[in-house]
Amino acid sequence: MKILVSGATGYIGSHTVAELINAGFKVVAVDNLTNSSLESLKRVEKLFKCKIPFYRLDIRNKSALKKVFDKHSIEAVIHFAGLKSVNESILKPVEYYNNNLGGTFSLIEVMKEFNCKIFLFSSSASVYGNPQSIPIKENVPLSGSNPYSRSKIMIEQYLQDVFNTSDNYCLGILRYFNPIGAHKSGLIGEDPNDIPNNLIPFVSQVAIGKIKKLYIFGGDYETPDGTGIRDYIHVVDLAIGHIKALQVIMKKPQVLIANLGTGKGHSVLDVVKAFEKTSGRKIPFTIVDRRQGDIAISYADCNHANKVLNWKAKYKLDEMCEDAWRWQTLNPKGYN
Ligand code: NAD
Ligand code: WQD
Repeated sequence: MKILVSGATGYIGSHTVAELINAGFKVVAVDNLTNSSLESLKRVEKLFKCKIPFYRLDIRNKSALKKVFDKHSIEAVIHFAGLKSVNESILKPVEYYNNNLGGTFSLIEVMKEFNCKIFLFSSSASVYGNPQSIPIKENVPLSGSNPYSRSKIMIEQYLQDVFNTSDNYCLGILRYFNPIGAHKSGLIGEDPNDIPNNLIPFVSQVAIGKIKKLYIFGGDYETPDGTGIRDYIHVVDLAIGHIKALQVIMKKPQVLIANLGTGKGHSVLDVVKAFEKTSGRKIPFTIVDRRQGDIAISYADCNHANKVLNWKAKYKLDEMCEDAWRWQTLNPKGYN
């Protein structure tokens, strides 16, 4: 079965391509390389001794996309391509809405033209805003608090409208919690441009000495140690969740919505301790003011995903840190 993966050279895309190949799927990769490097795909090819067709294109360019669909018999699409920084989305809302919504519209329109009916979408736990209850279930009201999360909510609604009205469409909406870690091989991992925004890439750059210390955003949350709690999930568990979801949705027309997390929460200080243990390095930190827009606690209720996908995240925090550290030490400059 041939799958088109948009955003295939990005962090989650590259790990999912690896798991797709591992599971015997054929992959056609597309990306405009605005936030990634083609090297990630070359590493996957090296890992599996295979060739993956790659097209450098912007998915908003429908004629370029059509050429890819013309050339390959695409049976399903996994759609990762998008802009993903919450902070940047507040500064550049026009770009975020245009890219995230426009890219999805274009993909869906081309899929319709080519009668391709199976679609998996990367949504985010940020669609829950500041949740009323924890752990977070899929059926609670959504509430975006920034352009990024609102773009995800709008896309979810658009996709459900499109897929509910058309015959025989299979749609999966996967809401990721906090993906971290890297492939066991140490060949692929997260390679942020500039200074990282997210916790784990920041902590690993402190551990390797690129950044002096970690600033912990808030020590006065109503949590046991005062720091924020999140549901960190290994990127390989997340990638395998996509394979399971694909296998479920392609069986019959449906709209499937599932949280992909571990169901366990860890504080920032838990992460610091786990990373220190793994790396054998000290992580100096200072507790500063809360970061605007952050919430105290977020972790998933994973019962629905566990049941319908027959999937459960298997890696624990220590192993996620171990794999992130291996990637960091083997690739101190990322893919460059
Ligand atoms: P990433 O930036 O590493 O990957 C996204 C890829 O999409 C990049 O390679 C980028 O070059 C490409 N891209 C962006 N716009 C494009 C366009 N118009 N045409 C073609 N390619 C384009 O991000 P990621 O962490 O791998 O995230 C993948 C998806 O998962 C995103 O949609 C993101 O919003 C979502 N998500 C990520 C997280 C996270 O914490 N990483 C959490 C929840 C959801
Ligand atoms: C985790 C915890 C911070 C950095 C974001 C997006 C979300 C999703 C995943 C895309 C929080 C604390 C962080 C630092 C810190 N992405 N922290 N110092 O904010 O949970 O989620 O990424 O969909 O939409 O919002 O992830 O890794 O930034 O933060 O203290 O330098 O670490 O306050 O408690 P977050 P994160």
